[in-house]
Amino acid sequence: MFLHQTHLPHLLPPDSYFCPKQYAHEMSFIFRPGWHLVAGVEDLACDGDFVTCTLFDVPLLLRNSCGQLHAFLNVCTHRHCLLTHAPLGNQAKLTCQYHGWEYCDDGSTARIPDARSFRPMPGGPERLRKFALQVRGPLVFVSLADNPRPFEEYFGPLAEPCDEYPVARWRLAAAWEYAFNANWKIPVENTIESYHVPLVHPNSLVNFASEEQIVHEIHPQATVMRTPTLPPAFYRRLSRWVLPWLDARCTVDHYELFHGFPNLFLIRIDAMLQVMAIFPISPTTCRMTVRVYGLRAAKETWMSRWLTWGWGNLKARIVRWVLSEDARLYPDLQRGMECSPFEGTISMREELVFAFQDYVRRQCEQPQVGGTPPFSSETRPGRESTS
Ligand code: FES
Ligand SMILES: [Fe+2]
Repeated sequence: MFLHQTHLPHLLPPDSYFCPKQYAHEMSFIFRPGWHLVAGVEDLACDGDFVTCTLFDVPLLLRNSCGQLHAFLNVCTHRHCLLTHAPLGNQAKLTCQYHGWEYCDDGSTARIPDARSFRPMPGGPERLRKFALQVRGPLVFVSLADNPRPFEEYFGPLAEPCDEYPVARWRLAAAWEYAFNANWKIPVENTIESYHVPLVHPNSLVNFASEEQIVHEIHPQATVMRTPTLPPAFYRRLSRWVLPWLDARCTVDHYELFHGFPNLFLIRIDAMLQVMAIFPISPTTCRMTVRVYGLRAAKETWMSRWLTWGWGNLKARIVRWVLSEDARLYPDLQRGMECSPFEGTISMREELVFAFQDYVRRQCEQPQVGGTPPFSSETRPGRESTS
């Protein structure tokens, strides 16, 4: 059943999908204080493994040191070089690529080549900058905030799909990334509604379920959609044979979508965990990372290993297909936002879009510094109401 009993207003006006001022507010009040998915634990499996990435223009270096994961600003305290240019690798000691300064896990210097020439400065001038890091299930999160809000408070309902199986039961089948010419909220809103499925995914997905069959949950920091699926008969027969081999407690008939505000999605169906995160790049561009995990059997055999690999690859192909169909719409959605004189409207079936827009609006209504709120209706004369 839907939570609302009437259609809803489109809370965000079209200009909030391209206005630089709105974008700046979202970066300040939504993204920079938050927790963000930056890697999978399989990327940092061994002692000395590292990966680098950029989170909102901040270069990060994530490192496994004796089984503990650490997140550093990827900038050296000596003369500001990136510690490493490599996207990933293994290094026994955290060492800067330029003059070879070595660092400890707390960011202090461990060794400075020709240290005498820096006398008298024992230990180097400063420590590397460290960021808060949390691991949950197979996922690694970082916050750029000095005092981030408690991770469990942020993670809330998303713990359910992450904790359903021990992390060792998930095998990464595929990971990839997209760049979209669209404001970040456009793919977010598309992901949390099934109303578009009949026209956009006529062959790759079944039609949406009836109102009676759908369960929506709206939490302060997240939404959940639980819905039955109607897979083709051959696919259901195949899954009935495969899933018992993987000790899966679930079936292909039940789909769950967890949206952690603002930009994280966990999707659970049969023996797959799909993880997506959408990151703004500019007011009108964003990128999306996708990870598809396949379930391993509790006690693996050669057959179950093969099925984990095969099922994971099959699911990754289906996910790519579905996401590519969605991606074709994003430039048109963006173009429409930039030309629309309308207020827009939201159906009860799309009520999770309303909940997300309400979250964005609440976050951006924090006290503003040096400007008016970005949702000023006076800036949009002549819009027609359809609600
Ligand atoms: S800049 Fe890193 S050691 Fe010199
Ligand atoms: Fe879609």
